[in-house]
Amino acid sequence: MTAETKLEWVEEAWSKALEKTKKNSLRIGAGFPHASQGGKYVLEEPFWWTAGFWPGQLWLLYNESGDESLKAIAEECEQRLDAVLNEYVRLDHDLGFMWTLTSVASYKLLANEDSKIRALKAANFLAARFNLKGNFIRAWNPWFEGEDNRGYAIIDCAMNMPLLFWASEVTGDPRYRHIAEAHMDTVVKHFIRPDGSVYHIVRFDSETGEFIEGIGGQGYAAESAWSRGTAWAIYGLTLAYHHTSKIEYLYTAQKVAHFFLARLPEDYVPHWDFRAPTEDREFRDSSAGACAASGLLLLADKVGELEAPVYREPAIKMLESLYRNYGTWGNDAEEGLILHGTSNYPAGQNIDVPLIYGDFFYVEGLARLKGKGPFYWE
Ligand code: GLY
Repeated sequence: MTAETKLEWVEEAWSKALEKTKKNSLRIGAGFPHASQGGKYVLEEPFWWTAGFWPGQLWLLYNESGDESLKAIAEECEQRLDAVLNEYVRLDHDLGFMWTLTSVASYKLLANEDSKIRALKAANFLAARFNLKGNFIRAWNPWFEGEDNRGYAIIDCAMNMPLLFWASEVTGDPRYRHIAEAHMDTVVKHFIRPDGSVYHIVRFDSETGEFIEGIGGQGYAAESAWSRGTAWAIYGLTLAYHHTSKIEYLYTAQKVAHFFLARLPEDYVPHWDFRAPTEDREFRDSSAGACAASGLLLLADKVGELEAPVYREPAIKMLESLYRNYGTWGNDAEEGLILHGTSNYPAGQNIDVPLIYGDFFYVEGLARLKGKGPFYWE
């Protein structure tokens, strides 16, 4: 593939994503889409963990196009999230996803002081979820009366750590970074198996901090390999290396990336779980592909020149495959940008549909190929 051909499809893909997002913005406005059902994004309440992706996508597209209408909607989404921040009780580990892609984005692009304050509040709430004995950020609050999940940590949370790294950078106070590093050390120690596959959930004793067990969560089984969790690990570890220069994070990101890349099917878009038995492995998760692709492009920038193509080339193939084989261009009856995401197969939720985080990471991956930062996690 020549450099010119690459550039050509990336520009084409970008304008189609921009065009479709602008059209979607007329209906969605400052809503919070998650999964597309029957061609339309279902809008969630703002406390749902996915609330940052739509405004995050709008910021990426605004940053390149200068389209003020996209910026206005992203700002309105950020303001709507104030109710969640102030109400407090619905907040969990996903503060990072939510405020990195809204307030940190707004602060990085426009130096907006209100956004900085919001993101710092979010960082403080996130830091407060740290379990000192187990060195992990606690995941969810109880989902039902009496549930004891105080000792749960999840791999997804690796993507929430950039909010803490950012908070240390803007305040000059290292405490946030110390917590993020302690959590990421736990990821390396307890989530990543020797072969580079990853647990979704790890349960610790919330009093003593002792490791109890790995749990399947959104993967097929405890010892299977949920592809989106694998992508969260690749990207989260690479970001942790970016912020700390701690070489162990880089090596671990590479190990997980090798596991992921070795299991891709011919079109480079992963099945939802690499180890689900054949009868349960039919569906892809395009969001895992998009997230991994963006993370792999960053990883390629972090390794030496000779090694970079190991990550960069498959990342480009993934994004090109998402564009050519999964894109909904020309299909006005579908709001999602890319088809075939799977949010939670074991729970039977949102299987084989477009997902807003798939769209977000797809656009972010294209922005990386265009060299159009800043990227809010960094
Ligand atoms: N963070 C939840 C998920 O990846 O579905």
